[in-house]
Amino acid sequence: MKKELIEKINKLKKEKNAIILAHTYQNVEIDEIADFSGDSLYLSRQAAKTDADIIVFAGVYFMAETAKILSPKKTVLLPNINAGCEMADKINLKQLREFKAKYPDIPVVCYVNSTAEVKSESDICCTSANAVNVVKSLNSSKVLFVPDKNLGAYVQSCLNGIEVITYPGFCPIHHNITINDIEKQKALHTDSKIMVHPECTKEVTDMADFVGSTTAIIKAVKESNNKSFIIVTEKGVVERLQRDCPDKEFVLINENAVCKSMKLLYLEDIYNSLINNEFEINVDESTAQKAKIAIDRMIRVNA
Ligand code: 13P
Ligand code: SF4
Repeated sequence: MKKELIEKINKLKKEKNAIILAHTYQNVEIDEIADFSGDSLYLSRQAAKTDADIIVFAGVYFMAETAKILSPKKTVLLPNINAGCEMADKINLKQLREFKAKYPDIPVVCYVNSTAEVKSESDICCTSANAVNVVKSLNSSKVLFVPDKNLGAYVQSCLNGIEVITYPGFCPIHHNITINDIEKQKALHTDSKIMVHPECTKEVTDMADFVGSTTAIIKAVKESNNKSFIIVTEKGVVERLQRDCPDKEFVLINENAVCKSMKLLYLEDIYNSLINNEFEINVDESTAQKAKIAIDRMIRVNA
């Protein structure tokens, strides 16, 4: 049954000249039909350079929107239109304008987990993979950082001589992870390395052995000689590591580390999306043109 569905999806992909991009937090079965799986930066780069006519984005809304902005002539599909991001919803255009008015003439770095409108009035985007290098690339003594105060604080901790002024947004899934959670797991797994996503609070990233994007965490685990890891980000990272590294032990920081929007898709949804061309993502042209400048700049900065 599953095998048949995979075959049908692969056939449709060929017929329609479609590719499937899958974020690391997706249900792990999605990787079986994905052309590219990884973090936001990696997937944005794939969206920018593909020759496909259709991009099916197995991820959340802002990711599909970013793909559409990067490849405006292509059809971009988000298989479940309700896959939003609570972080992206924390700032709208009016709030960004108010924030900028409070701190005039300072460049704005906008985390890619944001709406197209917010990107369109920012100077440059970043992802969790290249945020530090993006801020450095501006050669400015001060930057505004929206919407994630935690990623902004992490960037600040990596840089001397640059002030990172953060907007008070956050991802609830990462923000709610506490130092108590880390201490509890560390007491149970004393030899484990602590691998943390920078959307967690500064107190939590301070306790980490490694801080990085989802792809960076997976790479660091694979390259490490250590046998046990506490994974301080969303559950999808643990599922991929368990699949890829069966000889190592992975502990999810707590059972609430699950992004509901990322868990909406199964193989059937990808099949339906391809068959029905659903749900097509479009971005207002003038917003898209302005947002593209900030996203193109981001793509040029390495992780
Ligand atoms: P990555 O930058 O690792 O893809 O993370 C994106 C995200 O939404 C984390 O919550
Ligand atoms: Fe958004 Fe948080 Fe889900 Fe990432 S984990 S997509 S930041 S809600």
